[in-house]
Amino acid sequence: MAKRKTKYVCQECGYETPKWMGKCPSCHNWNTFVEEMEASSSSRHTFQVQSGTKSKPEKITAIQSEEEPRVTTKMPEFNRVLGGGIVPGSLVLIGGDPGIGKSTLLLQVSSQLARKQMNVLYISGEESARQTKLRADRLGVTSDNLYVLAATNLLDISNQIEQLNPSFVVIDSIQTIYREEVTSAPGSVSQVRECTSELMRIAKSKGIPIFIVGHVTKEGSIAGPRLLEHMVDAVLYFEGERHHTFRILRGVKNRFGSTNEMGIFEMKEEGLREVNNPSEIFLEERSQGAAGSTVVASMEGSRPVLVEIQALISPTSFGNPRRMATGIDHNRVPLLMAVLEKRVGLMLQNQDAYVKVAGGVKLDEPAIDLAVAVSIASSFRDQVSRPDDVLIGEVGLTGEVRRVARIDQRVQEAAKLGFQRAIIPAKNLDGWTTPNNIEIVGVNTVQEALKVTLGGN
Ligand SMILES: Nc1ncnc2c1ncn2[C@@H]1O[C@H](COP(=O)(O)OP(=O)(O)OP(=O)(O)O)[C@@H](O)[C@H]1O
Ligand SMILES: [Mg+2]
Repeated sequence: MAKRKTKYVCQECGYETPKWMGKCPSCHNWNTFVEEMEASSSSRHTFQVQSGTKSKPEKITAIQSEEEPRVTTKMPEFNRVLGGGIVPGSLVLIGGDPGIGKSTLLLQVSSQLARKQMNVLYISGEESARQTKLRADRLGVTSDNLYVLAATNLLDISNQIEQLNPSFVVIDSIQTIYREEVTSAPGSVSQVRECTSELMRIAKSKGIPIFIVGHVTKEGSIAGPRLLEHMVDAVLYFEGERHHTFRILRGVKNRFGSTNEMGIFEMKEEGLREVNNPSEIFLEERSQGAAGSTVVASMEGSRPVLVEIQALISPTSFGNPRRMATGIDHNRVPLLMAVLEKRVGLMLQNQDAYVKVAGGVKLDEPAIDLAVAVSIASSFRDQVSRPDDVLIGEVGLTGEVRRVARIDQRVQEAAKLGFQRAIIPAKNLDGWTTPNNIEIVGVNTVQEALKVTLGGN
């Protein structure tokens, strides 16, 4: 009998080598190589035969471009993250920490589509059909068009898809699905890669949208090779803090829409409920009139969200001062503190600084700089800014307040929520019509902004 060859595959990046190595030469991660059996040449041949389509090159002008209508669910937040609905034939990966609610979300989506008289196949590799039914009962999911299949063998799955011919398929999760021809364990790089490419073929050839659940590793990336993220059409992350009931669905990659979109849900006993006005929720528990608290209008994709920024500045008791940031880039805090020290003259070097975005959201755009800087100064001086102020602006190293994008949307959202005054970059004052129910103040420097908000000099 011919000796079976083995190879070592990096579980992070998919790099292959004939010998074991401690460190991957491609992605530089340690201890990621796992021994896998090489697929025999005959099985490899069958892959090729299966995936080989007989398509010919076509002129781009001759290709019909009429877009198939997207399928929309009753959850506008979900539709928006996907770029306006589910694209037929797309393969979408949803990742998230254990227990965050991936199965719940997809079961709810399945149920809504089933109610639209679409045949939906929900394949669970992790739970039995009865367990899925228990969850469905809790979520109030009942529809004759929703089929549940507890299976892990991809061949069974593709046969069932062939027979049922559903209009929407969910695979929960890709790490439990295996192909018999691939000898390594389910969840390994080769299995995940082969299964995904087969699912891709099914989705594209039949025009069925397939949603795949993927587990997320400790480091926050989807378990399995990064390759997986390249193969699928869209990657969504479902995230949230364990102690909060809010869950955020975020697009990381999308071939059919913007990736900055975010959908906000609340986890309830009866399932996930959409949060239509996130600003209200984020500001609900705000402590008005406290030093160190300001509100910023930040863009999350195409939507402005108002969020509270809190800072606590207290004298360092020993050693190096601490600089902590939650929800914003932690490098911004020392930078803005250095600007405040040098340009405004605040003596911050012996102060500990803690900066936090309330509500567990993450903000990563420069337009929040001004609010962070004013929060820090407000806590340091123990002076309160007006609770109906909203701050928008990027801060440069010379202390200048720089122009930001989409100022009109941000200010409109603030006005809608009853804010009385917007402090914005002076360079942003022209070129748009200001709403008349909010006072607009343009500032050129951080110093000016502090004067306007905290008074003094
Ligand atoms: N009776 C309940 N009331 C309220 N929330 C519940 C209830 N049962 C479950 N949940 C919520 O649902 C979550 C589990 O959801 P779900 O099984 O969809 O997560 P998942 O992301 O699919 O997890 P896994 O990675 O284990 O598959 C729990 O963490 C909990 O927050
Ligand atoms: Mg699950």
